[in-house]
Parts: sequence; C-alpha cells; structure tokens
Amino acid sequence: MSALIRPARLRLGVNIDHVATIRNARGGDHPDPVRAAGIVAGAGGDGITAHLREDRRHIRDDDLARIQAATGLPLNLEMAATEEMLEIALHHRPHAACIVPERREERTTEGGLDAAGLHDQLAPIVARLTDAGIRVSLFIAPDPRQIEAAIRLGAPVVELHTGEYAHATGEAQVAELRRIADMAALAARNGIEPHAGHGLTYDNVQPVAAIPQVAELNIGHFLIGEAIFVGLEASVGRMRELMDLAR
Ligand code: PXP
Repeated sequence: MSALIRPARLRLGVNIDHVATIRNARGGDHPDPVRAAGIVAGAGGDGITAHLREDRRHIRDDDLARIQAATGLPLNLEMAATEEMLEIALHHRPHAACIVPERREERTTEGGLDAAGLHDQLAPIVARLTDAGIRVSLFIAPDPRQIEAAIRLGAPVVELHTGEYAHATGEAQVAELRRIADMAALAARNGIEPHAGHGLTYDNVQPVAAIPQVAELNIGHFLIGEAIFVGLEASVGRMRELMDLAR
C-alpha cells in the first residue's frame, strides 16, 4: 500500500505590528507587543512577524530584542532594503528577514518588491543576510518575472502578496487566486519555499491555505482587529483552525 503523503502543517506567522500601533497612540507601554507574542505562542501561532519601519510608527528597535528574549517562536523581521535595516537585522539575527518595499507615506505595504528591477541593490543585502544565517524572504507579487528574479538572487523563500486577491471579488478574485497558486508551484519547483500574506481574514484565508506548496501565512491587521472583540488567543486560535481545515 502506498503511503499517503500528508502536506506539512501550514505555519501561521502573526504580525503584531498593530499592537504597537495602539501602544504608540498614547506613547506609553501598553499594550505591549511582547505580551501579544506570548499569547500567539500559546494559541497556535508558529512565528512572530514584525515590521520595523523607517519611521518606527509601530514596532521600535527595542521591541525586537524583547520579542526575541520573551518567546521561543522564530522572529520574521520585515525590513526595507536599506543599509540601516541591514545593520539592525545583522545585529538582532532574527530567524528570517522578509524584504519589503517601503514608502513613508503608505499606510501599509502596498504592492510587492520589484525584485527584478532592484536586483543590483538587493543582491548584496540578500548575500549578507544569508551569510549571517538569516533566512531571506522576498515579498513579491505573484508574477513570474519576480519569481525568476528571486531565483537569480538565491532567495530561499518568497512571500506572495495576497493583497490584490483579498481586495478583489468574483472572477477577478478567482483569477488572482490562480496566479498565487501557479506562482507557489513555480517557486516550489525551483526550490524556493512559498509563503503568502497581506489582507487575509477568516473569510478569504482558506483558498490560499489550501494551496499545497504554501508553507506559511503571515497575518496581522485582521487578527489584531478581531482580538478587540474576542481576545487575541481566540482570534489566532480561530485562524489556526480555519487554516488546518483547509489543508
Ligand atoms: N506580510 C507582509 C510582508 C506584510 O508587509 C504584511 C503587512 O505588514 C503582512 C504580511 C500582514 O498583512 P495584514 O496586516 O494585512 O494581515
């Protein structure tokens, strides 16, 4: 009898930036993203994602060390491709670094990284992070040009941007889901681990979670928002359940 091949458990990285957004609104210490990270660990989350932005609008430098010290979960540091962020990543040595495009005036990360157009800028950053033992991920649109660029850069992981999918409806959403599935398969065929994230909610997570090659989802805004009503443990637990049901 041939053994059934079970897809590996889909990992859930919880982006805790917006706990810090609320904290910073009053300039004090509460609510503490480190406390949130501890709750995520107990609620079925597999990793903590945090974006240290140039303007420090949510996560701050000292949060990184505190998160790393307080939870056993791997930290995925989202960072712009700048010398400043590279030095910070090399100092903190998170488990993973996800390189994202960043514009000061945007409300959240809009669009994927142009890994193809920025090859020369990205290549030394990817190399230095990799040399330091940090797993590099590139946050890219589900576009074959970008996957090819990730292959050329030697990135072990790509995170496929699900924002277009999350905002689309009807046939446009089906088409976008197909692009994500096709690019996850293309990445995996080339030895790159595909992750996905942005704009995922209870309502739209399952079709993405069902893509067999996708190994990790990174979800933030919805989970922190929902936590206002049900608590963080419950919001993460419900997402975990929906993801598991979809596999
Ligand atoms: N992945 C990346 C690379 C992101 O930049 C973000 C937003 O910071 C997310 C995932 C999470 O997106 P959302 O907050 O919409 O769930």
